[in-house]
Amino acid sequence: MEPFPWRIELGEHPGVVLRTLELGDWIVEYDLSRVPDVPLWTMYPADLDEERAKMRADLNLQLAATGMGIRYVIDERGTALGTAGIGRGRHGFEVFYALKPEARGRGLVTGAVGALVSWLNANGERDIWLSTLDGNAASENVARRAGFERVDAGTHVDGRPLTNWRRRG
Ligand SMILES: CC(C)(COP(=O)(O)OP(=O)(O)OC[C@H]1O[C@@H](n2cnc3c(N)ncnc32)[C@H](O)[C@@H]1OP(=O)(O)O)[C@@H](O)C(=O)NCCC(=O)NCCS
Repeated sequence: MEPFPWRIELGEHPGVVLRTLELGDWIVEYDLSRVPDVPLWTMYPADLDEERAKMRADLNLQLAATGMGIRYVIDERGTALGTAGIGRGRHGFEVFYALKPEARGRGLVTGAVGALVSWLNANGERDIWLSTLDGNAASENVARRAGFERVDAGTHVDGRPLTNWRRRG
């Protein structure tokens, strides 16, 4: 596998790119941790302070260097709208994402997932995975739109039920 790309253009959304989340982007992590449905449905902790937001950004760069995973800022002409990324799981790579409320309803995350899946497929990864906590209808819609199919049920680390999805390459 090639090193993760530093930057990916979202072709169908002119002016929107995925760019590697770096230390200076800690405010995106800070902001997303304060959007109520982000900590509810993702692994984002609630109410990160500046120090912990910076630690997450720094950890992202360390993980990217090992090839284990990477998180990108979804950036529109210099404005951070959310994040999307990939990480190695038990069966293969998984995708994850979160948008600020004002950026929803435009297909940005479906586009970001499509771009990440394409890059993984081009680098020899056939099956790509995604998991949604049960009740997260918005994310289930993203999964379906991006070509994922339900595989089975699972349990989140906190005991909540979830659904595993797979997109065959
Ligand atoms: C999950 C989440 C990212 C979905 O955001 P979203 O804006 O609905 O997703 P997309 O960016 O793919 O946009 C899809 C919406 O844009 C619309 N849309 C407009 N143009 C579009 C296009 N070119 N392509 C696809 N959809 C488009 C779709 O119809 C859809 O709107 P609808 O749900 O009203 O029908 C968002 O709800 C979120 O951040 N939730 C909290 C975090 C979270 O749950 N993360 C996932 C954990 S598994």
